[in-house]
Amino acid sequence: MLTLQGKIVAITGASGGIGEATARLLAQRGAAVVLSARRSERIDAIAQDIREQGGRATACVVDVTKAEDLRRLVSTAIDQYGRIDVLVNNAGIAPISPLADLDTEGWSAMIDVNLRGTLNGIAAALPAFRAQGSGHLVSIVSVAGLTVSPTMAVYAATKNAVRTVHEGLRKESTDGVVRTTAISPGYIRTDLADSMADPNVRELTRKNMDAMGIPPAAVARAVAFAIEQPADVEIGEINVRPTVQA
Ligand SMILES: NC(=O)c1ccc[n+]([C@@H]2O[C@H](COP(=O)([O-])OP(=O)(O)OC[C@H]3O[C@@H](n4cnc5c(N)ncnc54)[C@H](OP(=O)(O)O)[C@@H]3O)[C@@H](O)[C@H]2O)c1
Repeated sequence: MLTLQGKIVAITGASGGIGEATARLLAQRGAAVVLSARRSERIDAIAQDIREQGGRATACVVDVTKAEDLRRLVSTAIDQYGRIDVLVNNAGIAPISPLADLDTEGWSAMIDVNLRGTLNGIAAALPAFRAQGSGHLVSIVSVAGLTVSPTMAVYAATKNAVRTVHEGLRKESTDGVVRTTAISPGYIRTDLADSMADPNVRELTRKNMDAMGIPPAAVARAVAFAIEQPADVEIGEINVRPTVQA
């Protein structure tokens, strides 16, 4: 019987959307979760709600662009629960726009949060995983990296960079200590469009999310599936799309 009972899981970007749904589902299935994001009142409230429903949850304020914040997230998990079994690198932003708009600030922000933020997570978790003799890195990438649509070039580039880092880490981890999983969602109904500065792109994305988006719990179930596998089974990549998405 596969189970999440007793797993200790830290999640970035857990103040809403996919991160929140993942924290709630994993806690329901017996994992202890450490929720992190910048908005402390939201992660505090979600952690409290999980505890009131009988789960184990702690909140930790983290900006993923700061390496020291990720180190504090990992040490919070270890201080509270004795170890860290899984880090879910989920925090992400999508200020997408056509390249010709030259939104270089948006490009830098995506590199800082989506790529550097994930690298900061890997740098914080790997020493703990090695010291424990086991650990699992899960990163939320995107189907936007599998086929590149107009307006999404830089966003897709950051997600594909994370995919590449995962593959490198997988090849360097064949001693069986570290497992890696990259999960690529399609349209998921969340607040991700809020980070889009271009009003036309934002409205089109919201329209697509409303028309075909599936709930964030669909991605949460994929995370649960990957991490409940026995230690000798690695789920490398999962794509989770609405059935009606091209
Ligand atoms: N929704 C989709 O259709 C879709 C599709 C493919 C991939 N994804 C990916 O799924 C992941 C989750 O996105 P979502 O759809 O759930 O969007 P969301 O509802 O906007 O959630 C994004 C989360 O990231 C956090 N975040 C943003 N910047 C951060 C920073 N500097 N430090 C720490 N946390 C930060 C936010 O928390 P705070 O603002 O509180 O810090 C929030 O919790 C992202 O990586 C996104 O690229 C989403």
